[in-house]
Amino acid sequence: MPEETETDVVSPAPRSYPFSRVRLEPDPQYARLRRDEPVCRVQMPYGDPAWLVTDYHLTRTVLGDARFSRADAVGRDNPRESASDVSQVAESVLNMDPPEHTRLRKLVGKAFTPRRVEQLRPRTQQIAAGLVDGMVAAGPPADLVESFSFALPAITICELLGVPEEDRDTFRRWADAAVSTSSATPVQEQDSFVNLAGYLGGLIAQRRAYAGTDLLTGLVQARDKEDRLSESELIVLAMTVLVAGYETTAHMITNMTYTLLTHPHQLRQVKQRPDLLPSAVEEMLRFNMFAPAMNARIATTDVLVGDVLVRAGESVLCSRGSANHDENVFANPDELQLSRDPNPHVAFGYGPHFCLGANLARMELQVALGTIFSRLPGLQIAVPEQSLVWNSSTIMRGLTAFPIAW
Ligand code: HEM
Repeated sequence: MPEETETDVVSPAPRSYPFSRVRLEPDPQYARLRRDEPVCRVQMPYGDPAWLVTDYHLTRTVLGDARFSRADAVGRDNPRESASDVSQVAESVLNMDPPEHTRLRKLVGKAFTPRRVEQLRPRTQQIAAGLVDGMVAAGPPADLVESFSFALPAITICELLGVPEEDRDTFRRWADAAVSTSSATPVQEQDSFVNLAGYLGGLIAQRRAYAGTDLLTGLVQARDKEDRLSESELIVLAMTVLVAGYETTAHMITNMTYTLLTHPHQLRQVKQRPDLLPSAVEEMLRFNMFAPAMNARIATTDVLVGDVLVRAGESVLCSRGSANHDENVFANPDELQLSRDPNPHVAFGYGPHFCLGANLARMELQVALGTIFSRLPGLQIAVPEQSLVWNSSTIMRGLTAFPIAW
């Protein structure tokens, strides 16, 4: 019999991960793990085994601890759900550590300000109203996914980047082929990325010649003493904003509309008190399970996480969804309490990689839900709820179509 090694002792047989996906609900295994084994071994469909953290405080510890690296994920067989691996793009802000990461975030922060996001609010409101006008003109039923949820963030990102009106259909076609829910082949997907990068390169060159008021102009002009963003950094950053900000927000709009329609008491609350919308959005960000743990952190040295000694070089995944249901932090975590306060959820991450677009996403979600429920007060699901089809092949949870009537 082979001798038992030290690794065999500290690394028990991994559980298969991600766990089951039922609508937007957490798998019961999360609650058991938080209680009994808050740091456990898992095996994802692709890549090396990893540690999975399900506890809220340990999640914040790992995500905020400089001994865990994102840059070390580049070039490894990372634990992941699909064959492709976004962690291989070394130039992406998500795959950098300080000081490179700090430098990039500082420069981007000069352009991606809360003020710029707020300036977009009236325009986003106009776009959302226009999309509802289109649905009303065509008459019920409509598919919210097709008619609203993807269109709103697509147009908002075009506004943000300053994509001119005449290019938006082409831009949206490429962006759609690049998202995980598309039916594009890998070759079409790759072509779309190349087209998008080429197109954004052209836009950036234009902004150098003629300054506008959009984010790209802000990024081109962003300076920190003598430092500024290079041409390729600008392109990769604009691509990252598109990839990170489009599909996520689109699914969230549908998921939150579904959540309110299936919680009539809470829906009545939002209708009676529209001022509740910002905290309702925070609560639904917390409440809805969205994606499994992803973007592994690599231990750069041996680190004790809870009771588990994570060895240098091992991967750690944090389930933000599980952390958001931690009963030691959120009273009655499986209840949707729209005025929950405080609500320190980690749906936008935690630590240095905290979502760059969180304020933009919040604004879009508030505008989207506000517009949908004020313009269509009789909104309902147009088919029996059991016949709704949830994505099973993509990382983000969401509906493939959401038939609605009003
Ligand atoms: C509701 C929608 C969104 C959700 C739930 C979300 C969630 C997240 C999360 C959890 C992270 C951290 C990932 C990690 O630490 O591994 C992240 C990072 C990021 N997000 Fe978002 N996001 C959303 C919308 C957006 C939007 C609209 C944009 C841009 C316009 C955006 C841009 C980014 C970028 C660039 C990063 C990487 C930041 C860094 O590595 O420093 N996201 N997002």
